[in-house]
Amino acid sequence: MKLNLPLALVVAILITGCSNDSTKKDNKVEELLSQMTLDEKVGQLNQYAVGPELTGPGEKTGQTKVRYDQLLSGQVGSVLNVLGAKNGREMQKQVVENTRLGIPLVFGYDVIHGYKTIFPIPLGESASWDLELMEATARVAAVETSAAGVQWTFAPMMDVGRDPRWGRVMEGAGEDTYLGAEIAKARVKGFQGSDLSSTNTIAACAKHFAGYGFSESGKDYNNVYMGQHMLLNTVIPPFKASAAVGVATFMNSFNDLDGIPSTANPYLLRDLLKGDWKYDGMVVSDWNSVGELIPHGVARNKYEAARMAINAGSDMDMEGAAYVENLKQLVEKGEVSMNVLDDAVRRVLTLKQRLGLLDDPYKYFDEAREAEQMMKKEHLDLARDAARKSIVLLKNQGNLLPLKGKRIAVIGPLAKDKDTPIGNWRAAADPNSAVSLFEGLTEGMPDVNFTYAEGCKLSIGPNNFANELQIENNDRSGFAEAIRVARSAEVVIMNLGEPAYMSGEARSRSEIGLPGLQLELLKEVYKVNKNIVLVLMNGRPLTIEWESENIPAIVEAWHLGSMAGHAIADVLSGKYNPSGKLTMSFPRSVGQIPVYYNHKMTGRPSTGSNMVFYTHHMDVERSPRYPFGYGLSYSIFSYSPVTLIDSVKTAGTSITAKVTVTNNSAADGEEVVQLYIRDVVGSITRPVLELKGFQKSMIKAGESKEFTFEITDELLSFYRRDFSFGTEPGEFEVFVGPSSAQLQSASFTLK
Ligand code: NOJ
Repeated sequence: MKLNLPLALVVAILITGCSNDSTKKDNKVEELLSQMTLDEKVGQLNQYAVGPELTGPGEKTGQTKVRYDQLLSGQVGSVLNVLGAKNGREMQKQVVENTRLGIPLVFGYDVIHGYKTIFPIPLGESASWDLELMEATARVAAVETSAAGVQWTFAPMMDVGRDPRWGRVMEGAGEDTYLGAEIAKARVKGFQGSDLSSTNTIAACAKHFAGYGFSESGKDYNNVYMGQHMLLNTVIPPFKASAAVGVATFMNSFNDLDGIPSTANPYLLRDLLKGDWKYDGMVVSDWNSVGELIPHGVARNKYEAARMAINAGSDMDMEGAAYVENLKQLVEKGEVSMNVLDDAVRRVLTLKQRLGLLDDPYKYFDEAREAEQMMKKEHLDLARDAARKSIVLLKNQGNLLPLKGKRIAVIGPLAKDKDTPIGNWRAAADPNSAVSLFEGLTEGMPDVNFTYAEGCKLSIGPNNFANELQIENNDRSGFAEAIRVARSAEVVIMNLGEPAYMSGEARSRSEIGLPGLQLELLKEVYKVNKNIVLVLMNGRPLTIEWESENIPAIVEAWHLGSMAGHAIADVLSGKYNPSGKLTMSFPRSVGQIPVYYNHKMTGRPSTGSNMVFYTHHMDVERSPRYPFGYGLSYSIFSYSPVTLIDSVKTAGTSITAKVTVTNNSAADGEEVVQLYIRDVVGSITRPVLELKGFQKSMIKAGESKEFTFEITDELLSFYRRDFSFGTEPGEFEVFVGPSSAQLQSASFTLK
């Protein structure tokens, strides 16, 4: 936009008195603020993790004496990881009754894909392309979370992810900016509902602001280098869209952006978020990301770190204790203005006011409601529906699926595993509480004779903070039994993948094939029975070259949550016709990463000739193994050519694209019709394709349906060479199809 990063930093340092004071003034908040001492103000900006759960490095220090004393003397404004209405009420009571002004705490927790009822991991759920569904699952998560006395989730994560080595791609919505923004809005609406003060809605958090998904080499917490155009056009839109729909809070990211850590980045927080977007919510740091300004090497000590972070616009310090230890002195010495401090405190108090906590600090602590709300039948039904809609059919050679045989072998270390499908970031889920694939199959297909063999072991243990992955073992003793059951079966279902804690925070991998002995097991089974349906459970795209070349049917089943086994059985048996489409490309090899559909053309794109001087790897095809937007169905859909109502569009008008999709099969099925646009010549280089619309719709067997898309100025706008936002005249190509790699095109000119 107007400022370059380094310049923004200089400006913010010069004008530390500027606080982007855009919060709407609430009487109760103002009255409280006017009564607060400096210590009390600082206290509101301090957040501690209390309770047995550790979601970041450190001792389980939550209950140490110092912290407890701070809690009782008004030096803590918020806690995370305190669960249960009873625990919450007790802690709230201590704080309200023992502090001078009795300002209640706000309780936060990572509710990423459900609280007790667990929905598919967000990456999996994004493959449903079903915004209503994603809003609904967030809604249920909010109902359960709020009943357990928590009013604030640190979700949705909206980091665009192009690197499957990064374990946190499981938490996001994949590689696309447009889809990511649509999904972020749906999830925010689901969590927050229409009234934040209602007891069954919770505050959401747009995280991680910004650039975290682009950590170098997919290594978590690593540095990020990216130009400002890419930041604005690729990374920022989901955040901007969430701010526009009123997301209550933002969270910083751990990374630096071209040398400036996000937590102390005034360009991101003051200029963009609180300035241009006039955001009036609150910004929380990530876990000790204020303290981490020291190892980043931009602050010498916590005093400097606190000064930089608050002046940059980080309002609350999660687990860093940098604010509580230093802010008072910083204000007294004039290094942080009272204006800046008041603005941060006002944002925290406003959050509490919006949640209704200032009126009734205990309104969320209702044990009867808690007992009644968890894992209700309708929550589990929704979890099953979400899970089956998230499944992506990657291959179905010879229509091996839906299953036909009566003697089916189920093989693999995950087939009876009731824990892996819950995935990482499982909030308050009970361990081993998912329906396993074997349970789902035996219950869903009672006429079939299922046999079972584990084949090999695969476990990295319960939430494992250790560095060593204990999945490598040489125990092939289960192979013989697997081969025996495979031999006598008509069809073999192999259930392989990653254990739950192999993806998620800090779970980066440098190789992303099937871990352990699984591929070897698969090859051995393949030698005796080639009718294999491979069911994958994983938290990221995997490299599955041999599998894709040889195995006739492949089903991507992610970590699908509480009802995983039933949902997969619904798809394998044909009770549910798969409709999921990938939101993140599957690479052919690690060396190909990042491989994503909306790349730039380069000056030397492939010409189709054999001449070597063009952009490519010599040893692997340029395309991904499975592209963005791809997914099969038991139906067969065909697309008519795409037509545009006009060949010229003028500013302020829209142009309509039309396509007819026919279901040429005997099976009713849902299709995700996708619209992409290419801006052929721009003031900066533009992506070869950009998703700009989609519609998911049921098309009955034999039916033809027309789909129309309105192409508006907004869809054609981007941050241009001079960082202004808008369109540029010229030629545009419009593409419609069932995936980013199977498209028909038409073109128009923007005058
Ligand atoms: C660190 C993670 O990066 C963040 O996403 C999470 O919300 C916090 N820990 C709190 O658990």
